[in-house]
Amino acid sequence: MPSGDHVPVAVRYEDIRALLASPTSSRNLRLPGLPRFVSGVGIDDDPDALINQDPPDHTRYRRIMHGTFTPRQIEPWRPRIAKIAGELLDDLGDDFDLVQGYALQLPGRVICEMLGVPLDDYEQFVRWTDMFLTTSTVTEQARYEGYTEFMAYAAELVAQHRATPGRDLIDLLIQARDEDDRLSEGELVNTVFSLITAGHETTASMIGRGVFRLLLHPGQWAELVADPSLVATAVEEILRFDGPPASAFMRRITEDTDLPGGSLSAGTVVMPNLNAANHDPQAFPDPGRFDIHRFTDHPPNPHVAFGYGPHRCLAASLARVELTEAIRTLVTQRPALRLTISPESVTWTDGLVYRPVAMPVTIGG
Ligand code: HEM
Repeated sequence: MPSGDHVPVAVRYEDIRALLASPTSSRNLRLPGLPRFVSGVGIDDDPDALINQDPPDHTRYRRIMHGTFTPRQIEPWRPRIAKIAGELLDDLGDDFDLVQGYALQLPGRVICEMLGVPLDDYEQFVRWTDMFLTTSTVTEQARYEGYTEFMAYAAELVAQHRATPGRDLIDLLIQARDEDDRLSEGELVNTVFSLITAGHETTASMIGRGVFRLLLHPGQWAELVADPSLVATAVEEILRFDGPPASAFMRRITEDTDLPGGSLSAGTVVMPNLNAANHDPQAFPDPGRFDIHRFTDHPPNPHVAFGYGPHRCLAASLARVELTEAIRTLVTQRPALRLTISPESVTWTDGLVYRPVAMPVTIGG
């Protein structure tokens, strides 16, 4: 792990699915002496975060939020998301950096609009997110300060929306209830924090990696240009081939557990590697072949880029719409897009979320 601790890694598709669905997999890693993902404060430490809950608390938490991220809630955003993508391109000219100018901008703007966060605050929370998601270049102290400042900001946002209710996602979350049950203040603040962190860099990096992959396969890019209706299934292959940005979070095994590929004893902390599962030849024949048609006619097993089991991505429907519209806008409005440097010259981030630092592209001749 980036902390220097060592844990076993689950890599096979069947093992990962069994592990993530197992009631003996706990996300409570807040016991003393356990391996750490990062040193210093990290995502695993917050007892209020949805990702750190086990059933029945987790079941309750998700039940309350059920309905905020369903395809029915998200689909009406599709035209707006496509419009933001088009506006971003209009401002970029013929030569631009696809990562800084486009991939990082789109999900940030979308989540700001959805949550009702002022766009002026965007730069600030990008700095916090970067700091919090970085594993190597920032000191523990700086990461801790970033985290506390960001939490205070999220608390302030919730307070503002309580004082002046509107129709933003934060208002929906404040009102969300399961019968008489609602999110506690800590849970609400944490949810806002998680949606900003999870909603911004994960999707941004996926857009960056996805476009990079497509540009490495000009024939498949040309197919999307000729028929943009193929983009939605191409996105599933992008998610399988190049996602997710970071793997699933570690799990603590609470009782001896038999997985298809072997046993894990109680107390083991294990890392499920989703990218390995998505490249398991037993689940996806010829997994190293990138093929935008893989999920079309006879789809293989579903990929696990959004995880599996109770913690599967809350906002997979939003992420899918963002990825699809980001790529559809590029193939329809910038069909001649290509890299201006060799693929080997592209440098990659070394933080928790893996993506090109920059990707210079052109639409010129
Ligand atoms: C392409 C983009 C995305 C990918 C690949 C992705 C992937 C994942 C994965 C793999 C998990 C499960 C982690 C685990 O079980 O350890 C997860 C959970 C989660 N994701 Fe995403 N995600 C994406 C975008 C988003 C967005 C846009 C949001 C919010 C706006 C979001 C919010 C969440 C939340 C809140 C959870 C925790 C769910 C729970 O614990 O029940 N994700 N995501």
